[in-house]
Amino acid sequence: MIPRILTSWLAQPLTPTQHAPPLESAHLILNGPVGRHTRFSDHEVTFYGGTNYLGLANHPLTRMAAGYAALKYGTSVAASRITTGTAKPHIMLERSLALYMGTKDAVICGSGGDANRILLNGITNFNDVVFCEQTAHPTLLESVPKNIRTQFFSQDDLTDLEHQLQGIDHGLILINGVNALTGRIAPLDQLYQLMRQRPGLRLVVDDCHGVFVLGLRGKGTVEHFGIRSDQVFQTGTMSKALGSFGGFIAGSKELCQQLRDTTTYRASTPLPPPVAAASIASIALLLSRGSDLRRALLHNAKYLATRLNDLGFETTFYGTPILSIKPPQDVDAKKLSDDLLREGIYLPFIRYPHKDSPGQLRLALSAAHLQEDIDALCDQLVQACNRHREQSAAIQTI
Ligand SMILES: Cc1ncc(COP(=O)(O)O)c(C=O)c1O
Repeated sequence: MIPRILTSWLAQPLTPTQHAPPLESAHLILNGPVGRHTRFSDHEVTFYGGTNYLGLANHPLTRMAAGYAALKYGTSVAASRITTGTAKPHIMLERSLALYMGTKDAVICGSGGDANRILLNGITNFNDVVFCEQTAHPTLLESVPKNIRTQFFSQDDLTDLEHQLQGIDHGLILINGVNALTGRIAPLDQLYQLMRQRPGLRLVVDDCHGVFVLGLRGKGTVEHFGIRSDQVFQTGTMSKALGSFGGFIAGSKELCQQLRDTTTYRASTPLPPPVAAASIASIALLLSRGSDLRRALLHNAKYLATRLNDLGFETTFYGTPILSIKPPQDVDAKKLSDDLLREGIYLPFIRYPHKDSPGQLRLALSAAHLQEDIDALCDQLVQACNRHREQSAAIQTI
């Protein structure tokens, strides 16, 4: 029996008086699951935010798995790994990830950010120099252990990196497999060539946007480039394409044991069992339907990019589900995003990586979107731009 207070709380409408303006993107409050559509307060939108790339965050099987595990195990194991914090769903999830990634073992962590921290704490040696790509995700850069020398490079200038690497015997190169803002894929093939000549170097790929999306079997950016090497490490999240939560590192038995020995891993409570169960269900779905979902996803992204370019919008398709759109010069991107929201389309305007960045329109496609959604997005974008131009022209004639 669910107490009445909870059901009535969940059913309560989120009115503007309770939560500041519902149609201002900075104040949006989700009021339903994220899928092809979602609800912000009481406003239904076609959803191009988030990173539910394969539509699994709202899949009946993942929801059922989470519900079943909540009934069987409760909502938390309430203990860290050092004591009694390991439950069957954790073991099953680590096995499922290893099976999916084709590795001997896998370690699960509290988040993708934690996976970066646990990996870097586990493998960095005191005499390493870290070379961090300048647009790397903050959780990757901030995971470098203190007192380790850190230098920066740009993936657009690998000659500079080559210069920086001269005379370096031990080091780590850190990079995102897929850029979170532009969708661009990192040149791992070129980085790998640089490293092969220097056995003391290792490459760490934060592949939170690439894993389960790229590669023949969906193992991510490293597989996309056909790289297999124990000099290359990959971290992933389960909160994006897997539609669940938590981070992971898949690798050899030795690597995973080394990571399980880190304090962060040992002393933290692992994922809630319902969350672990949802991830297991997602992996099972991907093992049977993954290539269809990935194909649908990338088809959607390519279709949108082609239509946008035909309509004269500046956008680039890198073969990933993330697209950034540059509106025409005379149209304000933030206003365009707010205008589309009123028309029932959520196309986020993002200031990244910090709140004072200039900002841009950045959207994430999902395999759950239909062609009619994408056509409607394009039509609405054109109409919104025209409205903005008419308004500006009217103001100028006053
Ligand atoms: C590139 C990248 N790395 C790491 C993370 C962190 O993953 P999580 O949200 O699972 O902590 C994110 C999340 O947005 C990300 O975009």
